[in-house]
Amino acid sequence: MIELSNNWLITGGCGFIGRNLITRLLADGNCGIRVVDNQYVGTFEDLVAITPDVITKVSLDTMTPPALGTCQMIDTDIRSAADAMLATKGMDVIVHLAACTGVAPSLEDPRFDCETNVFGTLNYLEAARMNGVANFIFASSGATVGEVEPPITEILPTRPVSPYGASKLAGEGYCSAYFRSFGVKTVALRFGNVYGPGSTHKASVVAKFIKRAISGEPIHIYGDGSQTRDFIYISDLVNAILRAAEAEQAGGEVFQIATSHETSVSAVTTVLLDILSRKGIANVEVHNEAVRAGDVKRNYADVSKAKSLLGWQAETTLEVGLAATIDFFLNNEQK
Ligand SMILES: NC(=O)c1ccc[n+]([C@@H]2O[C@H](COP(=O)([O-])OP(=O)(O)OC[C@H]3O[C@@H](n4cnc5c(N)ncnc54)[C@H](O)[C@@H]3O)[C@@H](O)[C@H]2O)c1
Repeated sequence: MIELSNNWLITGGCGFIGRNLITRLLADGNCGIRVVDNQYVGTFEDLVAITPDVITKVSLDTMTPPALGTCQMIDTDIRSAADAMLATKGMDVIVHLAACTGVAPSLEDPRFDCETNVFGTLNYLEAARMNGVANFIFASSGATVGEVEPPITEILPTRPVSPYGASKLAGEGYCSAYFRSFGVKTVALRFGNVYGPGSTHKASVVAKFIKRAISGEPIHIYGDGSQTRDFIYISDLVNAILRAAEAEQAGGEVFQIATSHETSVSAVTTVLLDILSRKGIANVEVHNEAVRAGDVKRNYADVSKAKSLLGWQAETTLEVGLAATIDFFLNNEQK
């Protein structure tokens, strides 16, 4: 059982991963939570939907520390260094999730991706240093490594292909430097393809396919579907974040956080369609489209390092995780 105490600051806390982490902290923890989010993607309303009674919006000028069992949200941009300094005061753990997420937006506007992901991360590392925040968890990605023969490991050379991969790699670099130069206990976690309840706004394979199937639209697979990914269920990912926050020997380290299972998009689609048909959604059309430029053919990660240093591994099977995700989307649809 993980001890969840202290004050947690979660940047990007209104988003998919943030809301799932907060749900878990509020349910199991004895902690105060503060969220920084500019509502670029997730909103205060999304956050409040978790449990309205204990979540409030506060302003940087008048806020007091979050009481145990409550969550407060500050509407600000991580690109503001001054706001980062104020928001991190009195915090014990920072989970830095806010980012320009995804490869496509980074190709459209590399400078915006850099300002958000590199300077935004630097702002919160520097604020952690100045305010004596002991723990800093950074949301990184396998995109830091680039095109390699999988499995991806932490010791492979990093040759990002996209600006997004480059900005996440810069974040990993600053995390390493802030641990080694200033003693901030940083841990960079490279998440696999995360799926699960709460992913309504995500355009990733699982969320997109379920949304289309439920609304009676065809599913589009790029190429023949033999491309592979490492799909990790959200509650396993949240466990990894909690483990990283309390691990003693993980300062300055990078970890692959995935399942070590290589799963093709076709295989995921087959499982999805099977579960959907058992829930009364049958005859979903599947169309194969042209291969998308820049899509990696094979991708999965070796998680041995997380297993040995964090004592963590994913536990949820694809069938169980997908069934729970479909239930979430069906329930949301009914609402
Ligand atoms: N979901 C995945 O499969 C996956 C995989 C690898 C890495 N990651 C990383 O995990 C983190 C969280 O991902 P997610 O899926 O929850 O994304 P998300 O888009 O659901 O949530 C990100 C949140 O950050 C906020 N945000 C964006 N820019 C901001 C800014 N400048 N200032 C303040 N807030 C800002 C958004 O409003 C949003 O609520 C990201 O750093 C992402 O790169 C996610």
